[in-house]
Amino acid sequence: MMMMSSFNKMHILLCLLLATQLTTMAQGQTQIGFYNTTCPTFQTIVQATVQSAFRTNPAVAAGLLRMFFHDCFVLGCDASILLSGTSTERTAPPNLSLVGFEVIDAAKTQIETVCPGVVSCADILALAARDSVVLTGGTTWQVPTGRRDGLVSQASDTVNLPGFNEPISAQISKFADKNLNTQDLVALVGGHTIGTAACAVFSYRLYNFSGTNQPDPDINPTFLPQLRALCPNGGNASTRVALDTGSVNGFDTSYFVNVRNGRGVLESDAKLLSNPTTKAFVQKFSGAMGVPALRFDVEFARSMVKLGNTELKTGSQGEIRRVCSAINRSQ
Ligand SMILES: *[C@@H]1O[C@H](CO)[C@@H](O)[C@H](O)[C@H]1NC(C)=O
Ligand SMILES: *[C@@H]1O[C@H](CO)[C@@H](O)[C@H](O)[C@H]1NC(C)=O
Ligand SMILES: *[C@@H]1O[C@H](CO)[C@@H](O)[C@H](O)[C@H]1NC(C)=O
Ligand SMILES: *[C@@H]1O[C@H](CO)[C@@H](O)[C@H](O)[C@H]1NC(C)=O
Repeated sequence: MMMMSSFNKMHILLCLLLATQLTTMAQGQTQIGFYNTTCPTFQTIVQATVQSAFRTNPAVAAGLLRMFFHDCFVLGCDASILLSGTSTERTAPPNLSLVGFEVIDAAKTQIETVCPGVVSCADILALAARDSVVLTGGTTWQVPTGRRDGLVSQASDTVNLPGFNEPISAQISKFADKNLNTQDLVALVGGHTIGTAACAVFSYRLYNFSGTNQPDPDINPTFLPQLRALCPNGGNASTRVALDTGSVNGFDTSYFVNVRNGRGVLESDAKLLSNPTTKAFVQKFSGAMGVPALRFDVEFARSMVKLGNTELKTGSQGEIRRVCSAINRSQ
């Protein structure tokens, strides 16, 4: 009887899950294998293109990951970040280090020769971001596809993006606007494990923080001379510095260990410790003693899938661009 009743419960639960899945699909969600029949080689082409670009310049991995994040945060994951032209998103100041446009363009060109007009640029970017994580040693996951490309891109919309010097409360609310919770925020910021930043965006912390003529007190005193050596006062503001000191080439939890130890490079990295909720996630992801651990690789993948469903265009919305840098009717 016991077994029977738990079987029944399980059965009901499964039916509910299936029903939920069908409802969400009917609303136009992404799905695993959207191009199974229409473009079965799509994933292989993206993977090979990202791999070859990565061999030439490993920095494209962080670039593509960041590009995907920017894309999803501004008008949803619709490749609006890829559109070129005056006053488009990619011209706005938060673009500063965006690299990898040519990787997406190269993958698109190849995909168009085998399945023309089928695969969206938004999906290519979503796959390229996942492949970038895998190439730097992270764990893989399945990327749902079926996004369509947007028709609009405006530099002014990039105000949605969380800023490197914004308080955590503002970041939490910007993520919440995208249906991403505080755990998603900390997991996704963990992408900084392979990131770099220009001295221009954090050297104000090193010499004269908030007009005090002192460094930011949140910087570990043993870390300060290291950062000052990398970004001398009045030096080259374009010099790029690893956000995960000692492990910039590996997709791992070392970023969280650094943050926990006062070795966050951006003010927003350091500020993760100023809020009890974000601080708790930093500790869990970093495997700190005495706190229940959370697996960063698993949670990062989960948050990436959530991020990838932000304000989707599916069905007949938007279009499938022929080239990723321009909408079809302008060609
Ligand atoms: C595509 O194929 C995979 C693997 O066989 C399967 O898991 C997935 O459900 C398929 N997706 C669609 C939309 O047919
Ligand atoms: C990024 O923004 C800067 C400043 O607005 C601009 O000069 C640069 O061309 C932009 N980068 C790209 C790739 O468009
Ligand atoms: C530090 O910043 C304050 C406020 O912006 C400014 O008045 C002061 O001159 C700066 N100090 C130095 C040494 O540049
Ligand atoms: C500043 O650094 C950038 C990036 O490393 C480099 O391209 C540029 O030539 C440097 N400028 C000067 C004046 O050294």
